[in-house]
Amino acid sequence: MKFKTPTGTSDFFAPESKEIELLVAGFAKITEKLGYSLLLTPIFEDSELFRRGAGETTDIVTKEMYEFTDRSDRKLTLKPEGTTSAIRAFIEHSYSTPFKCWYLTPAFRYEKPQAGRYRQHHQLGIELLGPDSYFADIEVIYILIKFIESLGLKQFKLLINSMGHRDCRNLYKQKLLDYLTFNEDRLCDDHKLRYKINPLRILDCKKTECISVVVEAPLLIDYLCEDCRSHHESVLNGLDNLGIIYEAAPTLVRGFDYYSRTTFEVQSLALNSSQSAIGGGGRYDNLVASLGGVETAGIGFGIGIERLLLVMKAESIRLNEIPSCDVFIVNLAKEFLPMRLADKLLSSNIKVSYSYEQSSMKSQMRQADKSTAKIALIVGDSELKESEVTIKNLIDSSQYRCPIERVVQDIKKLLTTIESKH
Ligand code: HAM
Repeated sequence: MKFKTPTGTSDFFAPESKEIELLVAGFAKITEKLGYSLLLTPIFEDSELFRRGAGETTDIVTKEMYEFTDRSDRKLTLKPEGTTSAIRAFIEHSYSTPFKCWYLTPAFRYEKPQAGRYRQHHQLGIELLGPDSYFADIEVIYILIKFIESLGLKQFKLLINSMGHRDCRNLYKQKLLDYLTFNEDRLCDDHKLRYKINPLRILDCKKTECISVVVEAPLLIDYLCEDCRSHHESVLNGLDNLGIIYEAAPTLVRGFDYYSRTTFEVQSLALNSSQSAIGGGGRYDNLVASLGGVETAGIGFGIGIERLLLVMKAESIRLNEIPSCDVFIVNLAKEFLPMRLADKLLSSNIKVSYSYEQSSMKSQMRQADKSTAKIALIVGDSELKESEVTIKNLIDSSQYRCPIERVVQDIKKLLTTIESKH
């Protein structure tokens, strides 16, 4: 039997894995400058956490959770997202506010796989807990846009909406329910049966039947209370002030029940697919309390790494630096000196490679030529007797003997000369 990756999952090798490494490093750099630090949470959590967090009526909970029972009969679920786990950690460890974290997490959703939609994907995200001021919304959206811009992406748009707080949302839900009841026959088969449970979910439905009903539906933005309206306008003013371009998206409710007030999403214009959302998030001012914590406001976003890779490819952006080496050590001696030399070179930030076998000079020189090294360092018994090594410039094939104690100094000089000529 040949084993394969489970449906909807992938292995990542270089150069893609290198791109992921650079994406993560870039994300850490941007978020840490603004005081966010890395949070790592378990890959599985109590199932009830996600039911209460994401919402009982969401697709994620009703159709997509990877739920299992462990040997002690505990109901556990592989995390479908990062937010709920971050909030659980914040409550459990009684962190003070403002709590600012960034994370890299795998996420598991039993979805129908297609380009850009997988059963295991990876998210980079941030969560900011504490401030309910619009400044927090602006900071979080700013980070998302700056990160996407830092990758060189150009073909994307930022969508933004407000879902109001619980009271304005409940008022709106009733209006929407009346409208949907009137148009019940036109909804998709799934939502004909379920729209009464949570009418907001229809706004998120990707089926053409529901989309055509939503076009004429009442809009949440028209039911916002004075406070929510003013919060929303301040967020938009802040974005204008920073020169961040956005588009109003009055039906953007996103796939979780925890959002309140600001919701946002960045969509790629370079992908010809329904899976064009690169990242998205929003405010969730009731989530901490609903998971058993003290009432605390919060906002954050998640970005799909696999989607980013697709979008970068579509925009012909390559982040990967091919792992390179400066010096190839040709080891013909029967001693550990080559490893000691490698150690010295590495300590001076010189990238090193060598053969793992003591094969012939010819074979090792062939490996040196194939590598990206500009210099070969030849260590043979005759050189060792004289406490010397041979330094060979692989660009012009010149070579000379150099005393071992001067090796690092000479190699640095030669690398600078080679780089200045190319
Ligand atoms: P989400 O929109 O479900 O939000 O996921 C965030 C991003 O993950 C999406 O924009 C997309 O790029 C990627 N993604 C989602 N599902 C898949 C999939 N099946 N395959 C590939 N990529 C996928 C959240 O998860 C929220 N926790 C975001 C958030 C953080 N809200 C507040 N804080």
